[in-house]
This record gives sequence, structure tokens and C-alpha cells, in this order.
Amino acid sequence: MQLADPSLIKTGLLLNGVWLQKPDIGLSGNASAEVNTSVHHFVVTNPANLKDVAWVNNASAADAEQAIVHAVQAQSLWQQQLASERALLLKNWYQLVLQHQHDLALILATEQGKPLAEANAEIRYAASFIEWFAEEAKRLYGDLIPTTAQGRRLLTIKQPVGVVAAITPWNFPAAMVTRKLAPALAAGCTVILKPSELTPLTALALGELAQRAGFPPGVLQMLPTKNAAAVAQVLCQSPMVRKLTFTGSTSVGKLLMRQCADTVKRLSLELGGNAPVLVFADADLSQAVAGVMAAKFRNAGQTCVCINRIYVERCVYERFNALLFAEIQQLKLGDALTPGVQIGPLINAAAVHKVRALVQDAVTQGARLHCGGQQSELGPHFYQPTLLTEVTPQMQLMQQEVFGPVAAVMPFDTEQQAIHLANQSAAGLAAYVYSQDLSRLWRLGEALEVGMVGINETAISTEVIPFGGVKESGLGREGSRYGIDEYLEIKHLCWGGLAKKPT
Ligand code: SIN
Repeated sequence: MQLADPSLIKTGLLLNGVWLQKPDIGLSGNASAEVNTSVHHFVVTNPANLKDVAWVNNASAADAEQAIVHAVQAQSLWQQQLASERALLLKNWYQLVLQHQHDLALILATEQGKPLAEANAEIRYAASFIEWFAEEAKRLYGDLIPTTAQGRRLLTIKQPVGVVAAITPWNFPAAMVTRKLAPALAAGCTVILKPSELTPLTALALGELAQRAGFPPGVLQMLPTKNAAAVAQVLCQSPMVRKLTFTGSTSVGKLLMRQCADTVKRLSLELGGNAPVLVFADADLSQAVAGVMAAKFRNAGQTCVCINRIYVERCVYERFNALLFAEIQQLKLGDALTPGVQIGPLINAAAVHKVRALVQDAVTQGARLHCGGQQSELGPHFYQPTLLTEVTPQMQLMQQEVFGPVAAVMPFDTEQQAIHLANQSAAGLAAYVYSQDLSRLWRLGEALEVGMVGINETAISTEVIPFGGVKESGLGREGSRYGIDEYLEIKHLCWGGLAKKPT
């Protein structure tokens, strides 16, 4: 990786303002042991070619305990800083992220696999959360409530929840980090981040830029680790950590929620989606196909808001499928750094295995395979963009997130049936609708059981909107003016004994 600033590659733990490197001692305790047997390090690989990118220090449960102690120590000073001082540090960080956009994108593309143009877009998206919450830091107003008694005044103030643990996924190694860290820091919380072990380098580079921006020691700490369960358990069970924010799978989200129960932690959970798109006969079909392509194949289909179920009104079903097929045929699969590539590899062998099994299940149950449906000769993690039609609700790929480049289409006959099909999911993150009928669009906007509805649009994610789901897709909202509330407590001050007249 040729970076303009190679010092952005960090492999240590960020603890109390210092990058901690662990000794290269292997399982045997022998300093000369092969590093690849080390308990202190783990390897990050490029999913496109399976080559090692870097060896990263492996945080232990004891490191997590230590990080909590530092965070608690830093918390009171951090929350007493003026909001404008916290905002200034966030703005410094934002500027540094933009200045190093290309290096960050290169790191991200190398460890995650998404095409470089998409990686650059993610860095700008990540930066937008830092800028947004730098601005919001200065707007944390309380209320003055009309009183209910003479001589008494009723107020509210907003205060940071305290130490926050953030656990972030591999599919957006930059944006999910800043979407959590920026509001937490703006609110006056200290944060301990555990990035995904598959893509820690982007997070650590962001940590390095935060250090350069001037955040005080202990305010932002990072624990890369292969011991995800052990470190998460410490963070979830500690009474000193007051909030957990997590993006990842629904099953892990439920587990973390249980682990947080004993300390009654505040929770933000951004979990799996199973997004439907409903395309009605009166839709602009080329607009609908363009929207479906963008939201289905973004990040090779590895996005929580990716379209997973495509429902098309029967009278335009064949035409829609033909247009979609033509677009899918144009997609260029390849290594993130190859110019013009639109689809990268899947993250790992398990992801490929899952996609393969879901496609096989659908075909066995009668789905029609138009293209793709197998791994690519480019490498073991590449899966060909796939189109399946005649799918049914019984097929597994309609019931769970595929998280791969597979478009699955089925017809519907009535609006009522379309709503029923769309809502037939335990998940409720995003849904999309294409139609030109305004009354129908309103009806659907209200009827769909999700947190976000794209109406004749699938590019719904920005820093200004409340991102989040209902049902098993999670709790809370990220981004927007609501996102910072997740890191604040409202405290009521009831102020009595005020004299009506001067005494
Ligand atoms: C996600 O997949 O969790 C995030 C996607 C987005 O922010 O658009």
C-alpha cells in the first residue's frame, strides 16, 4: 500500500493517548516463536487476494478493563469542557480526515475490498458525521417548563451519559466509527471503540488523526482485538460503562443486549435489515432499475440497507427483469484498486459460503437463475452478480439478509399484497417504493414497518437523516439532530422556594 502518509498505519492499541505495542511472544511464551502463532497479534488480510496487510495488536479482556479505568478518569474533565472546545477538536479531526481522504480510502479498500471510488465516498460520508456533530455540540439546549406552582421553576438540562463502548462492523469501517464516535464526543462522553477484527486499520488510522486533532488522553481509546467476545463482555458488564452502541448482526446484538441487562445500560443497536423494494406498474421503470442497482450492489450487497427483496407488480414484471438483467450484465467485478471496478470481493469465505447456500436453496425451490450464481475465477471471495426471478417468500434468501450481490425478484398483484409481503419480516430497517401515485406513496410511507423509506430514491443515507430501524433491526437513531440524544441524559431541576417579592 503506497500511502502519502505511511504513519497512518497503526497496529497498536490506543490506550490513554498512547499507542501500545505488545511484545511478539507466541503461544509458547517464546520470544522467538513465529508471530503467526501469537496471542498478542492477529493478521488483517486483503479479501481480494488473501494477502496479509498487517499484523495488529490483540487487545485482551485486561486491556479493556484498563481502558475503562482511563475513560472514567478522563470523563469528568471532558464533560466539563465547553461545548465550543469539544466542537473545535471535532472540526480539527474533520479537517484531518478530509486532508487524508485518499490514504484512508486506500487503507479501507485494501482491508475491506470495496472499490476505491466507493471507499473514497465512504471517507467523505464518515467525515460528514464529524462535521455535523461538531456543529450539534453547541446546540444541546435544555428547557424551561411553565411552572405548576408559585415560587417554583422547572428546568431540564442535558448531560452526557458517561463512558460509551462502541462496537463497529467491517462493512463500513470508517462511517460506522464516526457515526458513533462523533456524537458521543460532541455530547461530552468518553469512548472506547472495538472495531471489527476484519477491518481495524481504517479505525486505527482515524484514531491516529483524532490524536493529531488534540483529543485529551483517555477521551477516545481503541481496542483492536480478535478476542471480540471477551472484550465485548468486559465492556457490556462493567457498571462504569454507561452506554453501548453497536452496529452488526441481529444475533450478536441480542447477545450484547442480554450482557448489558445487569447494568441497565443505555443501548443503541443498528442491526440487520431485510429491505424490500416495491415497484409499481406506474413507476418510472428506468429510474426504479437504476435505484435497485445502486441499493442492491452497493458494497457488493454487504450493506444493512441493501435491497434484499424485490417485489414488482406483475404487469411490468417481465419488462423490469429484462432491464435489470441488462444492467447486471454491465457490472465490473474486481480488485478494489482496478480502475472502473464496481463490485469487489465478499469479506471472507464464510460470506461466500452463505451466499452460495442461499442461491442454491432458491434454485432448488424453483427460482430461475438468469446470470451469476457462482464464484468468480478472480479469487475465492469473489461472487458473480446474480439475478434470480420467480422467487417465493418460502425461500431462505427472502427471509434473511443475503449480504451479497444477488438480486431476487418476485411479482405481486395488489398494493395490499405488496405491503403484506414487505412487512412479513422480523427486520424493519429500510424499505423502498417506486410509483408515480402520490396518494399511494403516502399510504406506503405510513404502512411500511421500517425506520426509513426511500420514495423513488434508494440513496437514503446521509449525516442529516435519522438512520435506524424498528422491530428486530434495532434501537435508536444515528446521524441527524436526533443522533446526539442517544448520548445524553435529560435531567430535571425542580427549583423551589423562590420569593415572589424582594424581602
Ligand atoms: C450499514 O450497512 O449499517 C450502514 C449503511 C449506511 O449507512 O448507508
